[in-house]
Amino acid sequence: MKQTDSSLTSSRKDDHILLCLESDVQYSGITNGFDDIIIEPTLLTQFSSEEVDLSTTFLSKEVNYPIIVSGMTGGSENGRVFNESVARICSEFNIGMGVGSQRAAIEEPKLVDTYKVRHIAPNIPLIANLGIAQFIQGYDHVQAQKAITMIGADALAIHINPLQEFVQGEGDKNQSKALKKIVDLKQELDSPIIIKGVGTGLTKEDAKTLTQLKIYALDVAGAGGTNWSRIEYYRNKEVKYLSDKFLNWGISTKNSLLNAVELAENKSVKLIASGGVWCGFDAVKALLLGADYVGLALPILRSIGKGGIDDCRKFLSTYILEMKAVLAMLNISNLEELKKERHKILDKI
Ligand SMILES: Cc1cc2nc3c(=O)[nH]c(=O)nc-3n(C[C@H](O)[C@H](O)[C@H](O)COP(=O)(O)O)c2cc1C
Repeated sequence: MKQTDSSLTSSRKDDHILLCLESDVQYSGITNGFDDIIIEPTLLTQFSSEEVDLSTTFLSKEVNYPIIVSGMTGGSENGRVFNESVARICSEFNIGMGVGSQRAAIEEPKLVDTYKVRHIAPNIPLIANLGIAQFIQGYDHVQAQKAITMIGADALAIHINPLQEFVQGEGDKNQSKALKKIVDLKQELDSPIIIKGVGTGLTKEDAKTLTQLKIYALDVAGAGGTNWSRIEYYRNKEVKYLSDKFLNWGISTKNSLLNAVELAENKSVKLIASGGVWCGFDAVKALLLGADYVGLALPILRSIGKGGIDDCRKFLSTYILEMKAVLAMLNISNLEELKKERHKILDKI
């Protein structure tokens, strides 16, 4: 029997979860780049780490930390269970959360519930998600609004992932109309738009073009964390001779951030640093470089997959403890101060 588009989308989402839980899906030979940034711990800290205040606002809501769990899943029973766990954690920590691509639910209304988390997390900033590939194939503001309304989201993230689509057997190989589609959507949609990659990074030219559109936020999704070319390579038996060099191609998260910081600041576009930002230490470095928020995906999936909500709670608590301790040892007690001091700290390097 031929699989329908929606059942194909649904089983692809399950493949992704399984591969991310059980296989090596990271970049090899390329890191997030943050090890290049040396920061020095003072002995004479003026603050207790517990005093450090990481609260900020995201999508006009107060959040306790500048941390976002990036969109991952939905569209299958596993996805529903996972989204509900993430929502519980994000509500507990009061941080932002994205769901994975809602294409499956737009195509098959029975799957809508696998994305809904407002009953669990009524107050957090919540981000809907669709791929640019769907817009290129005919979606417009109607489906975009549907995705937002479906989950009571505060914004829509549109992911652009040409490299992943090129390697994916069933992928959409022509993304040449991506920019035009974003321009149209920006004009037609009232809700904030976040543009994100999925882990190959951002060139300076990309950053320039996208920040000029005055979207709400740009997620640099740099290389050094989850490697989507590798994930699709595992799924697609037809491309087994692809080179390792190609499969590990990307701009590190640090370099992607550097490509975007000034441009985003000038246009008042918020900047999200994601792509292997998997410890509090690197999160602080991302903020020092000019990110407004950090986003993370794989460690959240893995901690929930291996040890459930308790393990994820431990992971995030440790991540935050690390961020606070690092900031205390840089003599910074809140994010406003960090923004003021960041150039001085980086100049010392
Ligand atoms: C299991 C899984 C599924 C994902 N699915 C989506 C998706 O549907 N839409 C999207 O924009 N990004 C998706 N991503 C990409 C993440 O949002 C993120 O951009 C990327 O994994 C880099 O972050 P990381 O290195 O912390 O994992 C997914 C990531 C994972 C691990």
